Amino acid sequence: MIGHPERRSIDATSSRQDRPLADYNWISYDDNQLQITSGEGRIMATEQDDRRGRVLWSFMMSLDGFVAARNHDMDWMRTGGYRAEPGVIEGYIERTGAIVTGRDGWDSPGGHRPWGGAWRGPIFVLTHHPEDAEPAEDVTFLRRDPAEVVQLALAAAGGRDIMVFSPNIGAQLLERGLIDEIDLHIAPVLLGEGIRLYSRPGGVPIRLSPLADEGDATSTVRVRYRPIDLAERDPAEPGARRRSPGASEVRR
Ligand SMILES: NC(=O)c1ccc[n+]([C@@H]2O[C@H](COP(=O)([O-])OP(=O)(O)OC[C@H]3O[C@@H](n4cnc5c(N)ncnc54)[C@H](OP(=O)(O)O)[C@@H]3O)[C@@H](O)[C@H]2O)c1
Repeated sequence: MIGHPERRSIDATSSRQDRPLADYNWISYDDNQLQITSGEGRIMATEQDDRRGRVLWSFMMSLDGFVAARNHDMDWMRTGGYRAEPGVIEGYIERTGAIVTGRDGWDSPGGHRPWGGAWRGPIFVLTHHPEDAEPAEDVTFLRRDPAEVVQLALAAAGGRDIMVFSPNIGAQLLERGLIDEIDLHIAPVLLGEGIRLYSRPGGVPIRLSPLADEGDATSTVRVRYRPIDLAERDPAEPGARRRSPGASEVRR
């Protein structure tokens, strides 16, 4: 049985002690079961059983490999109106049991709750300074090894998948073999700068096996696009502007 967590002192030498994650969230273990409880005593997540969900690294990404524009700006996604295939988001909402993300993304305008707030559940935000985080419901701010956070999130997810919504943390996990699946929705847009899905200057190539196409690790994906004339774009979109005089004549 899981007891109500008590406020014990932090034991930095053990990862199996009850301890504060922030001023208001607590993890406790009893008989190897995990429970995350808010400061008010509300149970946020309980380890259900031994089932293990998948660790997904999932994004909407520009064709040139950015998941956010400069300064974590996400207006390109909102104003572009890009969407996943029908039913995919609903599937994520159903199968996701917990989310792992980072403080920069969480604190940025437009960060926060995934899928427009349609999903609720435990969110783990990694940061080196959890003490100055703004408390938020269901959110635990941690200064912890990302691998340990994945274990906590998987336990909290109770057999469902976890989503890693951070290129930075995802890369750390990928290099430690802790990502099960990279799941990308490639939007028909070029951003030119921003937060890359994977940025490791001087790193070695990470080879991948497609989940479709019978796992042929040498097959490429062909995509074909044409650039959309600036004048066809919604003026609210970043970078959109009025058509320059004569642009249509040039094309004719
Ligand atoms: N396109 C999409 O579908 C999609 C979906 C989700 C998110 N996003 C975007 O993705 C971007 C995330 O960018 P990002 O990965 O550069 O930022 P991030 O997720 O905020 O991760 C970086 C931050 O995480 C913390 N962190 C990382 N490793 C840590 C460790 N080992 N220990 C403690 N803390 C650690 C640090 O926070 P501190 O500096 O506080 O220490 C670091 O600054 C955001 O802009 C977000 O909006 C896009």
